[in-house]
Amino acid sequence: MTFDRSVKIAPSILSADFANFGAEIQAVEAQGADWIHVDVMDGHFVPNITFGPTTCAAIRPHIKTVMDVHLMIAPVDPYIQAFADAGADFITAHVEAGPHIHRTLQAIRAAGARPGVALNPGTPASAVQELLDLVDLVCVMTVNPGFGGQSFIDMTDKVRTLRQMIGDRDIHIEIDGGVSPATAPMLVDAGADVLVAGSAVFKGGSVENPTPYGDNIRAIRASAQ
Ligand code: DX5
Ligand code: ZN
Repeated sequence: MTFDRSVKIAPSILSADFANFGAEIQAVEAQGADWIHVDVMDGHFVPNITFGPTTCAAIRPHIKTVMDVHLMIAPVDPYIQAFADAGADFITAHVEAGPHIHRTLQAIRAAGARPGVALNPGTPASAVQELLDLVDLVCVMTVNPGFGGQSFIDMTDKVRTLRQMIGDRDIHIEIDGGVSPATAPMLVDAGADVLVAGSAVFKGGSVENPTPYGDNIRAIRASAQ
């Protein structure tokens, strides 16, 4: 399969109705979502708790596109197999989450998922220099991870640096945090192709009234093209 460099919108279910993930996922996919972004938080690596592999396995049958699991947990390694068994397509771990990120990324691939590495806003692009032959995705956080709806931190220069470091490798550059029609264009221009968006996708809509989800997804996509 040829590598897909087109812009992909990945709604984060962190902004969805937690009591209705299945229907929310079906709604955003019907409204044009390209991937589904699943935020796992442990109350330790980040100051918030969401859910774990059991919930991921429960929502998997509702995802027809790509299940993009973002692990904001430490340690990572003891849970990799469980998230892979839950059906994650991508499993992204933070470079800051432990001393042996190289081992973590190898373990994700060995478990049958596609490895991603995420960088907090305070972490330089150079932190992933030695990891580029191991990953299918680099996630650039444009907020400090832990919550949806935070204000965007400009990481355009980091994205541009990563784009150059990646060269012709088949690696997605994903942006996570504060993505909106206002911030998307500069990120895509700098080299990003996966745009995670929570509040900017789910605002104004619901399972009963999903049209705003589609309007919001189209607005982000249109801004970026
Ligand atoms: C933040 C999460 C993000 C978050 C994005 O810790 O990793 O995926 O849901 O939410 P918005 O788009 O509202 O900033
Ligand atoms: Zn995320």
